[in-house]
Amino acid sequence: MSTSALSFAVKKVEESRIHQIDWDNLAFGKSFSDHMFMMEYAQGEWKQARIVPFEPIPMHPAMSAIHYGQSIFEGLKAYRGKNGKIAIFRPDMNAKRFAESANRMCMPTVPEDIFLEAIRQLVSLDQNWVIESPGYSLYIRPFLFATDEFVGIKPAETYKFMIITSPVGAYYSEPVRVKIEEYYTRAASGGVGRAKAAGNYGSSLYPAKIAQNQGFHQLIWTDAVEHKYIEESGTMNIVFQLNGKLVTPSEDSDTILRGVTKRSIIEIAQIWGIEVEERKVSVEEIVTAARSGLLEDAFGAGTAATIAQIAKIGYRDEIFELPPIESRTISNRIKDYMNALKYQEIDDEMGWNFLI
Ligand code: COI
Repeated sequence: MSTSALSFAVKKVEESRIHQIDWDNLAFGKSFSDHMFMMEYAQGEWKQARIVPFEPIPMHPAMSAIHYGQSIFEGLKAYRGKNGKIAIFRPDMNAKRFAESANRMCMPTVPEDIFLEAIRQLVSLDQNWVIESPGYSLYIRPFLFATDEFVGIKPAETYKFMIITSPVGAYYSEPVRVKIEEYYTRAASGGVGRAKAAGNYGSSLYPAKIAQNQGFHQLIWTDAVEHKYIEESGTMNIVFQLNGKLVTPSEDSDTILRGVTKRSIIEIAQIWGIEVEERKVSVEEIVTAARSGLLEDAFGAGTAATIAQIAKIGYRDEIFELPPIESRTISNRIKDYMNALKYQEIDDEMGWNFLI
């Protein structure tokens, strides 16, 4: 079925809430646009796909997602260019990762054409919420959760797939301070680290809070077995620059989220002839380079975080100050390029923009 042939029932709000938004003081993820998409899964099929006014949803106290954690999500963004057009960055990659997460969590997959068309129609309806201003975007949050009214362990038979959207500015308002975590673990091999499962974020909160109390924004997770190898950061993947090369933990393991932003950075760097190494990255290698001033750059990569340059890395009792942000030629160049692409200031030579 072609995506344009998919039509959903639409119930519009009587009055938009957009005039309530304080665009100059937009906290990430706290305001929501007028409408949301939802559909239900039961008896082996998806039903009742619809766009409705954004509002709370009723919840049964025994709803299985809250008891047993069958809950996954995605994050992507829509950007408005100076030409007035709205582009969503690589949503096909999110659709695929969403299906992989669903499979791992024993949940039904959402067909890719429905995923994409639901986003297209929802963003199109709430297009006034995608404002044309540098750094602003409409964050799109698709999510899927189990809705069986049953206290007992088994894959649920009923699910809800929803999409909400939220106008946002920067996730981090300053270069980030991250701490290398050597005790707590985000994901072990054979676990669900590669899935964008809600529980991965829930379980990271306590260790992240300890780091935040020590003055860091986030953690750098290390492997679950020896805590010797770097995996990703709390809200984003991680990339280092050593000797003019980009070095990043390989996604071969099943413990690392396969980031759309990180993949895009790698693809751009490779086209530009910048060497990229995707491999095991040891804590020792990074710490040794940082101690001797050879760590040229480190940055997080994620949809919410975009490219978040790292100012300081904490390791045990040491704090390493990284080079000034303006000296980070590769990450600054890639960041500028990706912004120009997303805001349609340059030709979409990569074919990454999904125009609304
Ligand atoms: C995203 O980057 O989209 C995420 O889901 C991360 C979260 C910190 C907002």
